Amino acid sequence: MQTAAQDSSPTRNPANTHSLLRMEGVSKIFYTDDIETHALSGIELEIRRGEYLSIAGPSGCGKSTLLAILGLLETPTQGRYILEGQGVENLSFSQRCAVRNQRIGFIFQSFNLIGDLTVFENVELPLTYRRMNARERKLRTLEALERVGMAHRLRHYPSQLSGGQQQRVAVARAVVGRPSLLLADEPTGNLDSRNGEAVMELLSDLHSQGATICMVTHDPRFARHAQRTIHLFDGRIVDENTEAELIREAKQSAAEGHGSGAPATM
Ligand SMILES: Nc1ncnc2c1ncn2[C@@H]1O[C@H](COP(=O)(O)OP(=O)(O)OP(=O)(O)O)[C@@H](O)[C@H]1O
Ligand SMILES: [Mg+2]
Repeated sequence: MQTAAQDSSPTRNPANTHSLLRMEGVSKIFYTDDIETHALSGIELEIRRGEYLSIAGPSGCGKSTLLAILGLLETPTQGRYILEGQGVENLSFSQRCAVRNQRIGFIFQSFNLIGDLTVFENVELPLTYRRMNARERKLRTLEALERVGMAHRLRHYPSQLSGGQQQRVAVARAVVGRPSLLLADEPTGNLDSRNGEAVMELLSDLHSQGATICMVTHDPRFARHAQRTIHLFDGRIVDENTEAELIREAKQSAAEGHGSGAPATM
């Protein structure tokens, strides 16, 4: 099977509302000793290009597992995962690495920067793996660091930065390869509210420039930045809200005389 990891994915076209990925009947069972954990069951999910989706739900309901499968860090036990028209659920380890490097940007709660690389080297790394030439790497790395307002800290090491700054560098690393899909697992979980808000603004900016984002968050204030929220419970999608639905519900409620008709603070 070929990896089909082309470098030409149309990553920044907000007008393009076609499907970026689809999951059909995805389940994940973890086997540890004698215990089976059904982390995900029968997930049906479609994400369109340019969409900003958030995933909510209580601890242990499968949010990180879903994100890990979306990011090809885990494989489903059952079901299909089609990313940009290609079935990716059965790829080998090295094929998954190649697809991930070309198409996916990951932001973690704990930043996961490499401590003995500088800011510049951390962000450059995904491009080095692609064997991109040094000049192009430098241009792209500087551009990504400028986008997150960290170009003035190129030679610093992660330990010399604040948490908010480290997360901005991690965002630069996630977007430097111009991925088709940006995944974020509790990206504000280790930040105070001011830095958390700043990282959220940054993600919103990237979204308005055309990025497709899928973010796990516990915090309803941050989920509001997304256009659509899916709610997981016990490994299943139990509910889904879109902005349009929330506005429609508010209008309906006003028409029935229950409220002011303002599209509710969401
Ligand atoms: N590698 C693993 N091996 C065994 N069980 C796992 C593994 N990863 C996750 N699980 C189990 O799968 C379930 C879902 O875990 P997951 O990390 O996806 O939850 P979550 O919704 O992200 O929770 P939180 O909000 O606490 O981060 C949990 O019961 C967890 O214990
Ligand atoms: Mg989690």
